[in-house]
Amino acid sequence: MKDKPNPTNLGVVVSVRGSVVDIRFDDHLPPIYSVLRAGGKGRIVIEVQAQRDEHHVRGIALTPTQGLARGMAVEDTGGPLEAPVGKGVLSRMFDVFGNAIDRGAALSEVQWRSVHRAPPPLARRSTKSEIFETGIKVIDVLVPLERGGKAGLFGGAGVGKTVLLTEMIHNMIGHHQGVSIFCGIGERCREGEELYRDMKEAGVLPNMVMVFGQMNEPPGSRFRVGHAALTMAEYFRDDEHRDVLLLIDNIFRFIQAGMEVSGLMGQMPSRLGYQPTMGTELSGLEERIANTDTGAITSIQAVYVPADDFTDPAAVHTFSHLSASIVLSRKRASEGLFPAIDPLQSSSKMATPGIVGERHYFLAQEIRRTLAQYAELKDIIAMLGLEQLSPEDRNVVVRARRLERFLTQPFFTTEQFTGLKVKLVSLKDALDGCERILRDEYKDYPESALYMIGTIGEAKGRTKSVPPAAPAKPEAKPAAQADPKHADEAKPAANREVQTDTQAEQKPESGSEAKPKAKPKTPAAPPAKATSEPHAEPAAKQRVPLSRIILPTSEQQPKPEPKPQPKVEHAAGPHAS
Ligand SMILES: Nc1ncnc2c1ncn2[C@@H]1O[C@H](COP(=O)(O)OP(=O)(O)OP(=O)(O)O)[C@@H](O)[C@H]1O
Ligand SMILES: [Mg+2]
Repeated sequence: MKDKPNPTNLGVVVSVRGSVVDIRFDDHLPPIYSVLRAGGKGRIVIEVQAQRDEHHVRGIALTPTQGLARGMAVEDTGGPLEAPVGKGVLSRMFDVFGNAIDRGAALSEVQWRSVHRAPPPLARRSTKSEIFETGIKVIDVLVPLERGGKAGLFGGAGVGKTVLLTEMIHNMIGHHQGVSIFCGIGERCREGEELYRDMKEAGVLPNMVMVFGQMNEPPGSRFRVGHAALTMAEYFRDDEHRDVLLLIDNIFRFIQAGMEVSGLMGQMPSRLGYQPTMGTELSGLEERIANTDTGAITSIQAVYVPADDFTDPAAVHTFSHLSASIVLSRKRASEGLFPAIDPLQSSSKMATPGIVGERHYFLAQEIRRTLAQYAELKDIIAMLGLEQLSPEDRNVVVRARRLERFLTQPFFTTEQFTGLKVKLVSLKDALDGCERILRDEYKDYPESALYMIGTIGEAKGRTKSVPPAAPAKPEAKPAAQADPKHADEAKPAANREVQTDTQAEQKPESGSEAKPKAKPKTPAAPPAKATSEPHAEPAAKQRVPLSRIILPTSEQQPKPEPKPQPKVEHAAGPHAS
């Protein structure tokens, strides 16, 4: 960070306990949030948290405190923590102090601003509600994001928060002339480095800034890194009038860092060990993310949910700040339905007829209703089998399963390991696709034809690759060249899949060795019922834990939905009706 020595004010370390440092100042006591420096070249940075008496302050070190000893001199920099802002920060990577950590050239064209700033006053806030299209079907259709709003990606460990977040950076930069700021709080350094490299390769770095306070850093630094990133975002919004996409991975780590700081400062813990000031700390950060008349900060935040418990105070507090909550479900991830968004738990305040329009609204309602009915039917299917359902219910199942698959989508981020080319879908195409599925136009298509596609039109090419399963489409034939359009899109991996696909079909009903556990149920379902779920078997396309996806009767998993909803009132709303 910028050096602004104030040699007139020197203090002396009186005690060091881990990150907590007490310092004595004889003349002038530095105010709260002042930054103090100690050690060689001011390498140890301390932020004042409390004034203990007329001569002593207590601070938290933002750097490791190795080498700090009683009696050492401490220099008051005379100001709070500052972050660099300006054109010069674009395409750079910083730590919490504003030091460039990308081994690039020295910073130029930057000013320094305090990271402690007030949120914009009510009068300056924009009252427009605009939709922010992401190109990701399930989000645009069911959980539309707000321009200038805050969206949270909730999920336990490893359900795809980081992947989804990274994908959104790609999509936003593709469409908009905005600036993206990525703020890594308390996550893996590896991910930061990978992101930097990916962005560089994708050529989007010129419109991007990255700020990291990863998990190896002391709590003080993780606690402040979010403020530093926001200060940069505010600069682009207020001074350059540009739209900003602020991505935070992971806001839970901010809360966690606050908890550590609070503990170090000796405050009494509150519920579940969280700090008593969690609410204010979080809103101090979240309220600064706002859209004003000059520009918008749209924020997408990953929220780690400890132990998948959505009633955890950290998750509950974060929910209340967001205009859209995207809940990632472990079950869907395990079925390979990526992005693993649970449409029934997720919600957006933009999903009202006045904002998205009647057609979109009613379609979204219908989709939710279908999926909710299917979720209810799962228990019956698990116990009695699909054939016991009434024809209407069976139709619901057919529709819901096709919708679920249509709402999956290959990502740019996962291209390397899925081998599927990224698909961006406009809202219109996504709505059309859902509408046509709801109208049963795709009833006779194999479910797999809808899996990991972009627009619904792509399903057409795919039926050809599953001949026996598609009586309605007899023109089917050799998979590989049948869909030339796909061959060039989804290249080698896709072809390979198509082959496995056909192999799988060679042993149609009896191909049980492939999915032994899935079977016990299927024999019960006679081939006759194949009319209702005709194409269920061709495992197609997926390389994921497919055995479950493909089989119509796959709802054998006894208790399907873990339903973590307690707090999620928004989830209950739409489909309850
Ligand atoms: N859209 C997707 N397509 C295919 N695979 C995915 C997708 N999203 C996530 N995955 C798989 O899930 C794994 C974990 O994803 P990710 O790292 O995003 O999880 P996370 O929620 O950020 O986890 P953590 O809480 O540990 O940070 C990925 O490495 C990838 O294998
Ligand atoms: Mg992650």
